[in-house]
Amino acid sequence: MILARTFPSILLLCSIRSGQAGYAKGSIQLDMSTFKKIIPHFPCAIVKVDKDYPHGRNQTQFEKLVGLLSQDKHTIVAEIGVQEFGEKENTDLAEFLNVPRKEHWPVLFIFARDTMSWAAKYQGFFSLNRLRNFVNQNSEVQWSCPACILELDRLVKAHLFDRTLLAEQMVLQTKIFIASLPRTDKRSTTADYYLKLMERILDLGQPAVAKESQRVVRLLQMKLPKAKKVLLKERVDILYYSFGGNLWSFQEEEIADGSAQDERDEL
Ligand SMILES: *[C@@H]1O[C@H](CO)[C@@H](O)[C@H](O)[C@H]1NC(C)=O
Repeated sequence: MILARTFPSILLLCSIRSGQAGYAKGSIQLDMSTFKKIIPHFPCAIVKVDKDYPHGRNQTQFEKLVGLLSQDKHTIVAEIGVQEFGEKENTDLAEFLNVPRKEHWPVLFIFARDTMSWAAKYQGFFSLNRLRNFVNQNSEVQWSCPACILELDRLVKAHLFDRTLLAEQMVLQTKIFIASLPRTDKRSTTADYYLKLMERILDLGQPAVAKESQRVVRLLQMKLPKAKKVLLKERVDILYYSFGGNLWSFQEEEIADGSAQDERDEL
């Protein structure tokens, strides 16, 4: 790895290799040196220590967590892959964090600028819900699903949950936001969707969210082209994460899929 830091072409090869290995998209990989350099720059750093080339259900749950934090500019998510054999990369860092053995992994730390001491540590079951609870209890991150628009989530929250913003204002500010988006911005169709739903909330109040949730779930159960399904799943996420739509069971179903075996192994 010393070579990799010296020659850019080798670095490129290595990053391609790690890309395939299953490190989460949207998280960064750290070693001792980058850990000490990067962590202090962020009010909140969420750091996972795990075996090298993490995979399986734990990793897919973690990947979802990373996705939900991707729009938070003040939070960085990082992974430390520890090699048990060979070069034994990152064993120094695992020891530094006092989780030297694989029995300790996966473990999640939260740092608040201070690399000498962590703010919180989690070694429990790796499910998205538990990871989210842990992060919620120990930081002030801003969640939003990958398909969501954080700026608009704030407006929705202010109206629906904090009740500090009138529905008219929510709609108006969303129109201003949409007008400010460059024409090429991929988020504009999503923003239009937010606006449509907000306008229905303006008419019907909160029940508009339940109605739309039912509609989308009904559509999802139909035979549809794949692209349409993907779009609808994004809508489900927006309804669930941004508008507080009662789609929890739907989300849970997804998490439970294919993990029954692992769960039995672990319980
Ligand atoms: C997943 O995490 C649990 C702890 O939550 C651990 O016991 C288990 O070994 C992990 N599974 C894999 C495949 O790493």
